[in-house]
Amino acid sequence: MRDANPGAVYLKDYCAPAFLINRTELHFDLGEEETIVTSRLYLLRSPEIAGEPVLSLQGQELELLEVSIDNELLPASAYRQTEDSLVVDGVPEQCVLTCKTRIRPQDNTSLEGLYKSHSMFCTQCEAEGFRKITYYLDRPDIMSVFTVTIEADAKRYPVLLSNGNLLESKLLESGRRQVLWHDPFPKPAYLFALVAGDLEYIEDTFETASGNNVTLRIYVEPKDLGKCDHAMDSLKRSMRWDEETFGREYDLELFNVVAVDDFNMGAMENKSLNIFNTSCVLCHPDITTDQGYQRVEAIVAHEYFHNWSGNRVTCRDWFQLSLKEGFTVFRDAEFSSDMGSRTVKRIEDVNLLRTAQFAEDAGPMAHPVRPESYIEINNFYTRTVYEKGAEVVRMIHTLLGPEAFRAGSDLYFERHDGQAVTVEDFVCAMEDASGADLQQFRRWYSQAGTPHLGVRDSYDEAAQTYTLEVSQSCPPTPGQTEKEPFVIPLAMGLLGEAGNLPLRLQGEEADPETADNTHMVLIVDQPAQQFVFEGVAERPVPSLLRGFSAPVRLGYDYSREALCQLMSRDDDGFVRWDSAQALATQVITQVQQQLAARQTVVVDPLLLQACAQLLADESLDPAMVAEMLTLPGESYLAELAGEGAADVDAIHSAHLAVHRAMGESMTPLLLARYKDLAVGENYAPRGEQIAARALRNLCLSYLAHADSQHLTLARAQLDAADNITDRLAALRVLAFYGDEADWSEPMAAFYHDWADETLVVNQWLAVQAAIPDANAIQRVRELMQHKDFDLRNPNKVRSLVGTFAGRNPVNFHRADGQGYRLLVDIVAELNASNPQIAAGLLTPLTRWRYYVGRADLMRSELERLAAREDLSPDVYEVVTKSLQ
Ligand code: TRP
Ligand code: ZN
Repeated sequence: MRDANPGAVYLKDYCAPAFLINRTELHFDLGEEETIVTSRLYLLRSPEIAGEPVLSLQGQELELLEVSIDNELLPASAYRQTEDSLVVDGVPEQCVLTCKTRIRPQDNTSLEGLYKSHSMFCTQCEAEGFRKITYYLDRPDIMSVFTVTIEADAKRYPVLLSNGNLLESKLLESGRRQVLWHDPFPKPAYLFALVAGDLEYIEDTFETASGNNVTLRIYVEPKDLGKCDHAMDSLKRSMRWDEETFGREYDLELFNVVAVDDFNMGAMENKSLNIFNTSCVLCHPDITTDQGYQRVEAIVAHEYFHNWSGNRVTCRDWFQLSLKEGFTVFRDAEFSSDMGSRTVKRIEDVNLLRTAQFAEDAGPMAHPVRPESYIEINNFYTRTVYEKGAEVVRMIHTLLGPEAFRAGSDLYFERHDGQAVTVEDFVCAMEDASGADLQQFRRWYSQAGTPHLGVRDSYDEAAQTYTLEVSQSCPPTPGQTEKEPFVIPLAMGLLGEAGNLPLRLQGEEADPETADNTHMVLIVDQPAQQFVFEGVAERPVPSLLRGFSAPVRLGYDYSREALCQLMSRDDDGFVRWDSAQALATQVITQVQQQLAARQTVVVDPLLLQACAQLLADESLDPAMVAEMLTLPGESYLAELAGEGAADVDAIHSAHLAVHRAMGESMTPLLLARYKDLAVGENYAPRGEQIAARALRNLCLSYLAHADSQHLTLARAQLDAADNITDRLAALRVLAFYGDEADWSEPMAAFYHDWADETLVVNQWLAVQAAIPDANAIQRVRELMQHKDFDLRNPNKVRSLVGTFAGRNPVNFHRADGQGYRLLVDIVAELNASNPQIAAGLLTPLTRWRYYVGRADLMRSELERLAAREDLSPDVYEVVTKSLQ
């Protein structure tokens, strides 16, 4: 039996390091059989530590060849090795420690440390991958200046990259090349990177605000050279934007991006050598959807922004991960909002937060934005740390206002440049620059769970007052039963017959300065409080949580009529969308009850009319209309149902019924818009085109579902399209609303056309994994045998297995348990080769407590995994915590 909590790390146990590493010199001898890494660490005993500390370096899967101190070889008696450390006694106050180790990157399937992707060598060191390269103090508060020598076969690896500046490159007699890189900025080991391969690049330049010229390069395999322009363009726009919006300039003369096919996540912000998953950098109309283009722009920006929020100022320890991730997600979201439609971007982000992050907060893996313990840090790159962390930064922005927030950000960067700091330091800088008191606000970092905001209202016609009674509570989460009240900024307005009403709170002077007095941010910071508005001439409809001003569940009992009013007339775009979602949710829930009671299904005409009105209004942004006409997703509905109450089949049937009714009731309008939204010009990933395609393809899906006659439209679209967005949309419509006879031939033809574009094949796998027909399990098992499937490639696994488990609810949750079994079989296999991916795939199973009639099946599959002896810490942590 294992311990209850093997190897858990606690925030409260943090200790400053006993040694510092001023300089780090690395030498890599890259080979096909073995790679020899020699490190020279310039150690210095920390002035803060008393006594004679032992030096304990981390290292995993390393073969130690030699250790010396100040060039004197150490006898074996002078050090001890364990499975994951090297301990040296009697290390002088100041010395150079040299370690020579052997590693085998070609056998490294975890994609952490140094590994091979196709013929290329590359690294991934965050969070704790550097210890798979050499023995080191592998913790982010050890910041060191790196000098790196790489030696490799000159023909196979003409490109040899690391961080910083290239100082030297020479051909050696042996047919090998040697290069020398130096990064002047001290950095933690997790930001180290190395790339060696037969790559080509596109190049551009950027002149910084203070006039420095930066060379920008994107390195890819030669076949992908034509797919880099969008990423380059996004990079330049990010650089300019960060100067203008945050006053942050780039700080070196070279910025490299490398695309790698085998990668555990999206991308990595290594200093001046960002490494990207090919799926997050390559773009071409034939391989990248509209959404994909926007994703590339956002991720390029995200990694670039880390140069300040993460690299120049980094994290003291991994509990502070949200310090860099939450802040950087906030920054990239602001960037995307400025590049496109702010409201649509906000809707997309809230959708993700409310489905994935709220579910995390309500599940067994719930943790605060700043967690207090972990077994495997790789399991904590979560929606909570990233997306909820960004919401917390956004709330600070809301509370302080844009100017004070910017002042806080400036102070943070100035005060902590070159340091490894904490979330507390960030909040302090915000307080010091603004004078605000964020004491109670800090609970957002320490308390897990999604707060519930209950709102009730009353109107006093005689007194012309309108009262909002607001209460907050937060459900218990693992290890936290009682919660203290949060500070919740509640942005709001009041909607009257002729538009949004002017707002005046009782006891407050009307402010003649503010032109816009129809919008207000109420500060909710107690379990219950009251807000009384005066001079309210009519009973209003409250427009609440505008812009989703806080990551909470809002509980206000809206009538359907009120939702229709907000949906069509409120000033706030987010509230218009959210009201449409709330209305659709009410209607789907009602249909679910009708189905359960075996009554005839009646879809409330109010919804149908409201939708038709939106669709008919050509003055509206089609992207916004598409968002508003998209029904809430099945997983969001399951999440809303709550623990022990989600009935997947009923949700699926009701969802389908409402979707079909919408198609049937709006057919002529859908046909008309399908026609007029056709993009007449060549494909470009521009706002107006993207918006038109989004709404047009939504129309197609409603049409095809209402009447299979319209599948011919999908066939025609598939043949005529000049881009993958329209092709995949058509293929999906055929597969989801047609029979296998309708889609099997086009599906095969699509593969045939795009078989040599890996990223297209991945999307082809994903479409098939999501088809909700009865054959899905069999199909997924067969696709796993397809010659283009590869369990070692995370993109393929996510496309096929991740999509199946996350986006095919009726099949994943099959009553016979086959869906769960399929997932667990794969996780068991990946557990050994790539634990990080294995653990990540388990997420949908951890929600077992939600599902009516399935919980036992799901739990027993988790128990089947738990019973295995060979579990990686990654999988072990997820499985055991889910079963607690
Ligand atoms: N820091 C990366 C980001 O920008 C994410 C990351 C963490 C990562 N660990 C990784 C990326 C492992 C790839 C592989 O969010
Ligand atoms: Zn990041």
